[in-house]
Amino acid sequence: MTRYKKQDPEITRRKFINAALGAGAAVGTVSLVTTLGAAKPAFRLTPDKAPPQPGDILVHADASKEGQPIKMSELSEQGVSAWPMGKDKDGNNVIRKAEPNNQLAVFRFEKDRFKAPEEGGHAHVVLELDGITDQGVVVYSSICTHAGCPVPNDPNDATKLFCGCHSGQYDLLQGCKVIGGPPPRSMPQVPVEMKGDQLVLKDTFVTAPFGFLNEADWETYLEQVKEILG
Ligand code: FES
Repeated sequence: MTRYKKQDPEITRRKFINAALGAGAAVGTVSLVTTLGAAKPAFRLTPDKAPPQPGDILVHADASKEGQPIKMSELSEQGVSAWPMGKDKDGNNVIRKAEPNNQLAVFRFEKDRFKAPEEGGHAHVVLELDGITDQGVVVYSSICTHAGCPVPNDPNDATKLFCGCHSGQYDLLQGCKVIGGPPPRSMPQVPVEMKGDQLVLKDTFVTAPFGFLNEADWETYLEQVKEILG
């Protein structure tokens, strides 16, 4: 698996928390993130609140087409809003839209435009090339890692995201790493592949989405999710 990962090995977990939250985020954000993290008790998990799961298909989130599978022909550098759709234990389709982080954005670029995240001021960036289809389809969360605002494309540059809440900026071609403003972490990628005419997820968020204090908390939550969903 080809994975570009930039993570400073010198930074201990504790230092990473300090670096991530101390450098760019306001004190108020720390308490907000902590509060939201605590507000995701896994025991209340239902299939519609579960994070994206391997095997989920991508369906439209826009009201006019909600629930319809996204087609390759609909994709471009302008993002398309998506939800992951999986199955419950009885085999019924479940759109996982009760979890705000599951609001995803699907983009399509020429694949050779993606590149390893360059060094920068943020500690944790992952770009999984095997999670980008041969046609250049890439999927990220569209919920800002700073304070949870939905983030649209930058109107001036389709390769960037611009969060209007506090001017956070992300680079879509480099693992959605932060290139401006206060977000503490990159926007997490969700690896995807083409199966038949459907876009199918290969994994969940590869790094912690909004609402989790750090990668360790996210990994712990995923373990709980696995136990509950079976
Ligand atoms: S919510 Fe603050 S920069 Fe996005």
